[in-house]
Amino acid sequence: MKRTIVAMPGDGIGKVVLPESIRVLEAAGFEADYVHADIGWEFWCSEGNALPQRTIDLLAKHKIGLFGAITSKPKDAADKELSPALQNKGYVYFSPIVSMRQHFDLDICIRPCISFTGNPLNFVRKGSGSSIEEPIVNTVVFRQNTEGLYAGVEWTNPPQAVREALETHPKMKAFKHVESKDMAISTRIMSRNACRRIIRAAFDYAKQFGYTNVTVCEKPNVLRETSGMMFSEAKIIAKEYPGISLWDTNIDAQMMWLTKNPEDYGVIVAENMFGDIISDGFAGLIGGLGFACSANIGKDVAVFEPTHGSAPKYEKLNPSIVNPIAMIMSAVMMLEHLGEKEKAGKIKKAIADVVLEGKVKTYDMMKLKGGPDVFAKGACTSQQMTDAIIAKLK
Ligand code: NAI
Ligand code: MG
Repeated sequence: MKRTIVAMPGDGIGKVVLPESIRVLEAAGFEADYVHADIGWEFWCSEGNALPQRTIDLLAKHKIGLFGAITSKPKDAADKELSPALQNKGYVYFSPIVSMRQHFDLDICIRPCISFTGNPLNFVRKGSGSSIEEPIVNTVVFRQNTEGLYAGVEWTNPPQAVREALETHPKMKAFKHVESKDMAISTRIMSRNACRRIIRAAFDYAKQFGYTNVTVCEKPNVLRETSGMMFSEAKIIAKEYPGISLWDTNIDAQMMWLTKNPEDYGVIVAENMFGDIISDGFAGLIGGLGFACSANIGKDVAVFEPTHGSAPKYEKLNPSIVNPIAMIMSAVMMLEHLGEKEKAGKIKKAIADVVLEGKVKTYDMMKLKGGPDVFAKGACTSQQMTDAIIAKLK
């Protein structure tokens, strides 16, 4: 069956990297139709909605999306840049990617942080004596994508009913003398079902890809209820996966160990905010934003995207300097999701070959400051990086 993929380039460099990923998918022999869908700042400005209903309809119909990146700006700028005809009519800016995750309940976020041998951006550390070690990082973070600290249940100056409900908790005594107007509350609400889904997804992935450990990275000694629920559910689910060890770490200690022994961790699973923090931490060890890919997976719909944003300072550079690998690796995740393992493997191998050979490098891989002069210093264009990957596919 020929698939239809909803292609959402979005803003800035999203418009650069998304077409590059499609070129690679086509060169690898993946047969699909691509239907363009509108998303991003432009549509906020012109129609007061960064995620138009027609885009939601296309995703609902075709189920699989490739997404580049969007621009979002603070409230003042959002109000000012809205088309004059729409101003003062009650339009409120929402991040379209957060809206998309919530609308389609894309609760499983997968962020692989896997180093390519020879990447000059790989983390290195001092070994014994004067030796330099370059640990092979192969960690995949499973981030609960819809609940927890990102669920958006928060107040400054909480309504009286909220305040009274909270005051049934003995620990609220500490805030007895704080006036509501001087109080800000952000909640961390987690449901057992969502905890089970993210933990099961993590174990299934570990089993499928041969990882021998799954680490729940939380803080149950302090966040006794929410982190506690994650860990107790993990203990139950782990029994179904003999051969995969369940480990647990505290988020703070995990960040300290990031540079000490990152090679020890296979799959890591965490709540929304903690998952965001851990995945950025691990992404930094494997080359940063030019390499960080992700998948947002729900029961019905799945969307694949690099974790970087629209990098507005580079959007006007032509040819473009940005690294398309994060986007191409996100497309690889899409292939894996669709069961196209062989094509996924071929593309990964092609990227690995280009990185190892070290002849073709984008500016970030040369640790250069971005700008139009990077080509004179030997950096390749975004398109040349894609060409090099495609050449290795042949
Ligand atoms: P950003 O990820 O767009 O860029 C930060 C810096 O990282 C860039 O200036 C550049 O130096 C580097 N970079 C990013 N992608 C790269 C690539 N593919 N190759 C090489 N270098 C790369 O984050 P920033 O500057 O904080 O935000 C810019 C805009 O993007 C904002 O409007 C923000 O709201 C939005 N954003 C959107 C995201 C999304 O669409 N999921 C995620 C993060 C930010
Ligand atoms: Mg982040």
